[in-house]
Amino acid sequence: MRRDVEMVRRNFGGLRQVTVVNPKGGAGKTVAILLLAMTFGQKRGGYVLAWDNNETQGTLGMRAQQDFHARTVRDLLRDLNQFHGSHGRVGDLSQYVRAQGEGMFDVLASDESATGGGMLTATAFAEIREVVSRFYKLIFVDTGNNVRAQNWQAAIDATDQLVVTMSARNDSAETAARMLDHLEQSGRQRLVRQAVTVVSMPPSRKEIDLPAIQAHFAARTRAVLLAPYERLIDSGEPLRYAALSSAARDAWLKIAAAVAEGL
Ligand SMILES: Nc1ncnc2c1ncn2[C@@H]1O[C@H](COP(=O)(O)OP(=O)(O)OP(=O)(O)O)[C@@H](O)[C@H]1O
Ligand SMILES: [Mg+2]
Repeated sequence: MRRDVEMVRRNFGGLRQVTVVNPKGGAGKTVAILLLAMTFGQKRGGYVLAWDNNETQGTLGMRAQQDFHARTVRDLLRDLNQFHGSHGRVGDLSQYVRAQGEGMFDVLASDESATGGGMLTATAFAEIREVVSRFYKLIFVDTGNNVRAQNWQAAIDATDQLVVTMSARNDSAETAARMLDHLEQSGRQRLVRQAVTVVSMPPSRKEIDLPAIQAHFAARTRAVLLAPYERLIDSGEPLRYAALSSAARDAWLKIAAAVAEGL
């Protein structure tokens, strides 16, 4: 455990981006973003951002702690000129990101209306990344379900460490496997090879073909780790580090250390 904490606390030598992917809904992406950001935030003492790069209605903001404002990535995009050049201080960004208190990280939520806003372009992604990269050392990017979306591809191109999540079900694993095919075919073989796979467990292990899933992703990615079933996570309520069981904290520290190894 001490080695894991040391790994998570290391100086990575610059800004690093971790991107969590699986085009299947309910694959545990948003949960992983929050638990990783919490674990890194706690162990490193801040400078961590969790950014919801869903085009609309990502659930990261809902599963995080609320702040005094409910601004989202759309508001930041609209006001980007305030951060142009060397303008904008870290305090100014507090108008757009939601502080997570004892979690020691911030959340940049996605647009919460069902119909609001248009597509997020690759340029929009790059502009936001440029601004937030001035104030954070580690950025965790949650992604949507459309691999062809510009902002999905832009997030992949800026990725230092890929995390592939899935629930321990064949449909979730198969969607992930096809996405890895796509990444390999589009020149991102190294990202795939270095990826960390996280499989979240159901309440009971009956009827799941875990060994086949583990074997497939162990052959293609750097590490495969299991995320234990946790009732609080399944409740849909906002997550708090202090409310997690010690088993969940330990498991996510191991996952965080595996992620940190690639940074
Ligand atoms: N470790 C876990 N323990 C218990 N339940 C879990 C765990 N991981 C994920 N879940 C369940 O899976 C649900 C979906 O997870 P999550 O919202 O993270 O998926 P997602 O991949 O972000 O989906 P979407 O693409 O729709 O945004 C959670 O709300 C929770 O009910
Ligand atoms: Mg999600």
